Amino acid sequence: MAKGKNDAKEAGKDLQATLSTDGAPAGTSQPKAVELAKKQREIGVAEFFARNKHLLGFDNPRKALMTAVKEAVDNALDACEESGIPPEISVEIIEMAENRFRVIVEDNGPGIVKQQIGKIFAKLLYGSKFHSRKQQRGQQGIGISAAVMYAGLTTGRPAKILTRISPKHPANYVELTINTATNSPDILKESEKEWNKEHGTRIELDIEASYQKGSQSVDTYLKSTAVTNPHATIIYVNPKAEQYVFARATDTLPKPAQEILPHPHGVELGTLIKMLSESENRTLSAFLQENFSRVSPQVAKEICENARIPPNFKPDEITRDGAEALIKAFSSTSIMNPPTDCLSPIGEELLKKGLMKEVQAEFYSAITRPPVVYKGNPFQIEVALAYGGEQEKDGAITLMRFANRVPLLYQQGACGVTKAVTTTNWKAYGMQQSGGSLPVGPMTVVVHIASVWVPFTSESKEAIAHYDDIIKEIKLALQEAGRDLQKYVHKKSKVHLQLERANLFERYIPEVANALHRLTGKPEPAIVSGLQAMVKKDALQQRIEDMQAKNTEDDEEFAKIGAGDDEDEHIDPDAEEESALSHSLKKKAKDDAKKGDEKSADDKTNDGNKKK
Ligand SMILES: Nc1ncnc2c1ncn2[C@@H]1O[C@H](COP(=O)(O)OP(=O)(O)OP(=O)(O)O)[C@@H](O)[C@H]1O
Ligand SMILES: [Mg+2]
Repeated sequence: MAKGKNDAKEAGKDLQATLSTDGAPAGTSQPKAVELAKKQREIGVAEFFARNKHLLGFDNPRKALMTAVKEAVDNALDACEESGIPPEISVEIIEMAENRFRVIVEDNGPGIVKQQIGKIFAKLLYGSKFHSRKQQRGQQGIGISAAVMYAGLTTGRPAKILTRISPKHPANYVELTINTATNSPDILKESEKEWNKEHGTRIELDIEASYQKGSQSVDTYLKSTAVTNPHATIIYVNPKAEQYVFARATDTLPKPAQEILPHPHGVELGTLIKMLSESENRTLSAFLQENFSRVSPQVAKEICENARIPPNFKPDEITRDGAEALIKAFSSTSIMNPPTDCLSPIGEELLKKGLMKEVQAEFYSAITRPPVVYKGNPFQIEVALAYGGEQEKDGAITLMRFANRVPLLYQQGACGVTKAVTTTNWKAYGMQQSGGSLPVGPMTVVVHIASVWVPFTSESKEAIAHYDDIIKEIKLALQEAGRDLQKYVHKKSKVHLQLERANLFERYIPEVANALHRLTGKPEPAIVSGLQAMVKKDALQQRIEDMQAKNTEDDEEFAKIGAGDDEDEHIDPDAEEESALSHSLKKKAKDDAKKGDEKSADDKTNDGNKKK
């Protein structure tokens, strides 16, 4: 506060000085701008986010609980993977009082060195991932300090951190809060402690929150995380003291994502100018080769030729016009796409297995597309779908979104993934759909985007921005899976039609048999069994059964985790808004589909793929 007042005083003095040098006549009243200028102050990043908690995913108590757990678990997974450690994470949530919860997340990761503890947990925009270009869950350096800030703001209690980096080092215990005026840590307690863990980190936060099951709950987040991270073991105790153990399904860690340099096709002019001016390279050719991926000596030579700048020109002497010429040369030179070992997709098999655990369906399909590039950033789309079975037939499909293996549970309507699904023509694949809506029918669709930089719509990382390149790629993956679906639906409806005919024929067997008996004199029972054999009903039924997927991963208990409470009357306003939205979307989709059906009955001949 005092600092703020001083700032204002200083600003006032500066302005007085400016005015007198501007030669304003003494004694005249000050222009309004001078008065207004006295109020101008710099805004601290933590102050800003403290007031805009919703940008960080802390906009209501229910979501706050999920976000706090998510930030800690995502970090734990990132840290373990980066260190090649199979993750073992425990999450415990204890209800301390009404609307007060203690969240404890413990990992067996590499731990955190003592000097870094304060900044990691109590300084916004501080982290190791922002500048490293590879697929990771975290990217902004905000997540965990935002959770610590939320704890301080809502309960006034410090975060308690225990961390150890090796058996040879003691475990460090720190209690801290974030000073929002300065965006820096206030360390309240510090000591060394006994810990029967060789390495890892434990964070304890007291926060204002509310616990509820349902599709946007901590339970659902952890279950979905277990599905897309089968190499992790997660032990979870919820506030109802129910324990879930998501044991790892594989001991193999995902292929480690490699860090890459920026690709010339993704760099912007301002960034290039800055890079050039800060470069210590002696020649432009060396600068290009050392700072960008896929620039070999030959490619560097071609870029220089196309930009009409000598390859031995000093980078820090290149002008703005020169930089612009270089940007043009980047796009006119043929440069290989960036390497894609910076990505670590889930893979078709695991994706399908995960879906089988969650959904009882009759048909499953999973597609992993080859990596592609947008603005120089490699990304890769994976899609899986489960059709039929016990899923609701009359509502909109269920959409599950993931980014870098993290489930996205909020902001479905605002997400680029949803746009890709709603703008795909599902009618072509045997589903019902009205313009611009999610298709209607018994189906679950999973979309995963793996990228070195996921363009989220806000700091809370809930929805993916509407980038054309990404939407296009998701649509291609959906179309591929859709074509598989269409083949299945078509085949199935053909056999069903044959079965219907067989049933019809079967009904007339007694009459036909009787007539044949009278005509030929052969015994009626023999004719009946002969005709029944001709119908081949059993064979048709068997064909339908064979066609349907055998769910080898069936796990009813698992599928139930997180279920329920979505329509509870105590639901939080935000969740209510989402479910109201999805209800009205479902209703609209249903109504529109009905209308569509009535219409299509008139012009059936135009659409060969319509459900029979
Ligand atoms: N459990 C942990 N073990 C080891 N290092 C950690 C752990 N949690 C956080 N870190 C380190 O602290 C940094 C800051 O974490 P934070 O969650 O604030 O940001 P981030 O994960 O980099 O990005 P995002 O804001 O997108 O989550 C991380 O980049 C990581 O280096
Ligand atoms: Mg993080």
